[in-house]
Amino acid sequence: MLRAEAVAAIRAASDLKSLEGVRVHYLGRSGQISLISEKMRDVAKDDRPRVGKLLNQLRQDVSDSLAERERQLKAAKDARELSQIDITLPGTRRELGSIHPLTQLLDKAVRVFRRLGFALADGPDIETEWHCFDALNTPPDHPARNELDTFYLPDGRLLRTHTSTVQIRVMESQGPPVRVIAPGAAYRRDEVDATHLSQFTQMEGLFVDRNVSLADLKGTLEFLFRELFGPETKIRFRPHFFPFTEPSYEIDIRAEALGGDWMELAGCGMVDPAVFDQICAKRGDRAYDPEEITGFAFGFGLDRLAMSLARIPDIRMLTENDLRFLKQF
Ligand code: PHE
Repeated sequence: MLRAEAVAAIRAASDLKSLEGVRVHYLGRSGQISLISEKMRDVAKDDRPRVGKLLNQLRQDVSDSLAERERQLKAAKDARELSQIDITLPGTRRELGSIHPLTQLLDKAVRVFRRLGFALADGPDIETEWHCFDALNTPPDHPARNELDTFYLPDGRLLRTHTSTVQIRVMESQGPPVRVIAPGAAYRRDEVDATHLSQFTQMEGLFVDRNVSLADLKGTLEFLFRELFGPETKIRFRPHFFPFTEPSYEIDIRAEALGGDWMELAGCGMVDPAVFDQICAKRGDRAYDPEEITGFAFGFGLDRLAMSLARIPDIRMLTENDLRFLKQF
C-alpha cells in the first residue's frame, strides 16, 4: 500500500524540487517509513526478522524509484536547455597568432649557430653592477653606468644594458672551452621613438679556447650573415672601442635583403685579458689564464635587422602585438 502510494508520488513529481519533497515525506527523519520503523518495538520478537526485512526492502525500493525519477528529470532538463542552443550560429573563432618577425630571425640565427657547435646560454634580465660593468672591465665613471642611461633598481641592481653579462655568467660557472650564444632582452633609458625602444633584443656570442683568433671571429660572423641574408652579403669591420674586448670592432653589413644600404650592426672583438683576470679572481682558479687561452665575443641587435628584413617602418610595431601586423609575416 505505502509502496504503491510512494511510487505514484515519485512518478508524479514533475521537477527536482517537488521530488525532494516526496523524498523527505517518505524517507526523511520523521517521514512515513521512519515512523513505521519506530513501531518495530511493538512487533512480536519472532516476527521481527521478517518484518525488518520487508521494511528494508520497502526503503530500498522507494530509494531506487527516487533515483530513477531524478535521472529522468535531469535528462529532461538537459534536453530542454540543449534545444535552446542554436547550433547553426557561427562559433566564436579563436584568433591564431603568428610567429613574430623578431622570433623568426632569432630562430634562424640560432639554427646557424647550432651548426657551428654553439650552445644556448642565458642569464637574468635584472643584474648586478658587477656582471654588467665591473667584470666587463668597465670603470665606475664610464658613461654607460650613468643613471641617465641605465635603469637602476632601488637595491642597486639594474636592468642589463647588454647581453654581455651572459659572457660573465657562463665563464663563472664553466671552464673553457666555451662556445655559446645568448639571445635576450637588453634595456637602456632611450627616448622611445620610431627607431628606439627602452627594451631591445641582442644576440651575444662567446668563444673561448686555446688559440682562438680574430680570423675565427671574422669567419664565424661572415658565415652567419651570409647564411641569414644571402651569399652576396658584404661585411665590414671598423676599428672601435669596447672596455671588454681588445682589439674591438664594429661591424657593418650590406645586403639586398636588408634594403641594399650599409647598416651598422654589431660590436665584437677579442676578449680583453682584464676580463679573464676578473673571472679568474672570482672563480679562484686559473682556468681562464689569459696567458693560456684567448677568445672572441660579439653582440648584435636583432630588432633593426628584423625591421629591415620585413620592411617595418617603426620599431614600436614590434611590441604592439597587433594581429593585423603580425599576420603579414
Ligand atoms: N655589448 C656591446 C654592446 O651592447 C656589444 C659587444 C658585445 C661588443 C661583445 C663586443 C663584444 O654594444
